Amino acid sequence: MGFDAVEIITIKRDRGELSTPQIDWVIDAYTRGTVADEQMSALAMAILLNGMNRREIADWTQAMIRSGERMDWSHLDRPTADKHSTGGVGDKITLPLAPLVAACGAYVPQLSGRGLGHTGGTLDKLESIPGWRAELSNEEMLAVIRASGAVVCAAGTGLAPADKKLYALRDVTGTVESIPLIASSIMSKKIAEGTGSLVLDVKVGSGAFMKNVENARELATTMVALGTDAGVRTVALLTAMDRPLGRKIGNTLEVEESLEVLAGGGPADVVELTLRLAHEMLAAAGISGKDPERALKDGSAMDAWRRMITAQGGDPDGLLPQAAESMTLTAPASGVLSRLDALGVGVAAWRLGAGRARKEDPVSFGAGITLHAKPGDIVREGQPLITLHADETARFERALQSLENAYEVSAASDPGLLPLVIDRIEG
Ligand code: URA
Repeated sequence: MGFDAVEIITIKRDRGELSTPQIDWVIDAYTRGTVADEQMSALAMAILLNGMNRREIADWTQAMIRSGERMDWSHLDRPTADKHSTGGVGDKITLPLAPLVAACGAYVPQLSGRGLGHTGGTLDKLESIPGWRAELSNEEMLAVIRASGAVVCAAGTGLAPADKKLYALRDVTGTVESIPLIASSIMSKKIAEGTGSLVLDVKVGSGAFMKNVENARELATTMVALGTDAGVRTVALLTAMDRPLGRKIGNTLEVEESLEVLAGGGPADVVELTLRLAHEMLAAAGISGKDPERALKDGSAMDAWRRMITAQGGDPDGLLPQAAESMTLTAPASGVLSRLDALGVGVAAWRLGAGRARKEDPVSFGAGITLHAKPGDIVREGQPLITLHADETARFERALQSLENAYEVSAASDPGLLPLVIDRIEG
């Protein structure tokens, strides 16, 4: 059935409800180029301002899934489990988590993205490993999964092409921050990826999309409902992103920290969140009796990592690129590091070269930030607090500007710091 784009825009502009055929038509016509970018931007803005109900969001998601291929892993001899994070500063959890969950008996087929702005992308991090390839055909994905239990790679162009086009449009029209549009964008890709179960890590705080718990809970609840309705066992955790995760932010730096975790060490918050998410993924996949903590200690998660990296052309023993220059900030006073703002640190790492401003920009693998203290730690005046790494010293000045008000040493801890895991939402 044919509709008129202007009529559909007008319905949403006037706070009306779009029917299933209207949504199917507009997504299909936009993907094929019959609905113009300016019409889709007007509709996206009307949705951002006036919202969509649960039925509309589910229809929108299904229409985006139908715009491309849907992968199917049901022929495999193990259950599949995946995790998606809404993105944060220092969030490298996928790197230790995917091989860890594979070592515990699930298959982990994970399609990931590159970073844009202050949050890093999983593929950029893994590409700091010499030889590692993000672009795989469906056959190669299957071969990597069979060889190592986990594959982390780029989504092919055939998966939810409507979302690819719409996300790029939203990025330049001020329409990213809409819960229905974010939820349908993420879930269309995850459902099309074909995982049997999914754990969502919805970040909350200054370094995340969702700045407060209330909005994060609404996004999580919407995504869990979309997954559940599509037959994917879906659970969400709301987790803290008011401060960075771990002690290293940047591509090589985050691979190094992930290797520490896989070797049985690593910062307490990264280990705690990796284990919590591993337990959730295994439970969602119906696997019981496995102990992820033991898999980190006995080397089986590290073995799965080495197989996964090797199967994608990478050298697990290869030297990781390092930045040429560094400088260290010291504690201005003795006391407690009461605040270390995730956004300030993320923007600083980005300005040092760890992230990109435009999709086509390259990233510096070695650039980023090392934290010598975390919020709540006692520090002494003059002790190293933050080290900046960059390929050129010229990058330090702008990075320092974003760190200027990002940390504070006080007499006592900040009681407002979010707990690492704030809430859990299931369907
Ligand atoms: N990530 C996505 O994939 N889509 C959004 O809309 C926001 C974050």
